[in-house]
Amino acid sequence: MVVAIDGPAASGKSSTAQWVAERLGYLHIDSGSLYRALTAAALRGNAPPEDWSPERLLRDAPRVTLGAEKHAFHALIDGQRVEEEIRGGDVTANVSLVAKMQAVRSWVNASVREAARWHDVVVDGRDMGTAVFPDAPLKVFLVADPWERARRRLVQRLGRRPTDDEVAAETDVLVQRDAKDAMQTLQAADAVLLDTTYLTQEEQVERIVALAHAVSHRASST
Ligand code: DC
Repeated sequence: MVVAIDGPAASGKSSTAQWVAERLGYLHIDSGSLYRALTAAALRGNAPPEDWSPERLLRDAPRVTLGAEKHAFHALIDGQRVEEEIRGGDVTANVSLVAKMQAVRSWVNASVREAARWHDVVVDGRDMGTAVFPDAPLKVFLVADPWERARRRLVQRLGRRPTDDEVAAETDVLVQRDAKDAMQTLQAADAVLLDTTYLTQEEQVERIVALAHAVSHRASST
């Protein structure tokens, strides 16, 4: 079983996908973490991002793996967890460049498919329901108003209520990131569109879990 969750940056995909995986007893795969880990591995080298080519980036690919732990796969570099490094500003600033390279996309897609061969999974990203798992029985495309996405991200980062000026500045950053990733962010024709602007995270998770139960029920009764 594959549950594919796609959507733009800060739409809550990864945290929702993680939670849905726990509820269903599946494993979560965050495909973006592989693009991020490859970017982090390249940043550890000497070449500036202007000189990165797909060949150069993919030279580091054997060092980047997915390791399963409880309900999730984690991106590893040389077998080590690198969560903080791959979420940092340097990686975030350069990862779109890496994610645009078709040879890199093919490598990420193959890694995600390989992990999903042996487990029921909830995968999240930009193109899971289109390029990677076009036959997934459940596809969800998460959207939310940019202002609300920015507000949620700041609450998480700052641990307090952000000011309107802070939210406005973060909205600007998010809208620019959306534009950079637009070509890769694709809604499948058969995806359920879930606008989470006015939903709590619990409500989002409940809806996706209910959809997954409905799909499994339909599959077992045909
Ligand atoms: O979701 P995220 O911010 O961790 O994604 C990191 C980058 O990877 C971002 O530029 C979008 C890109 N990405 C992609 O192109 N396709 C995916 N399936 C997942 C992420």
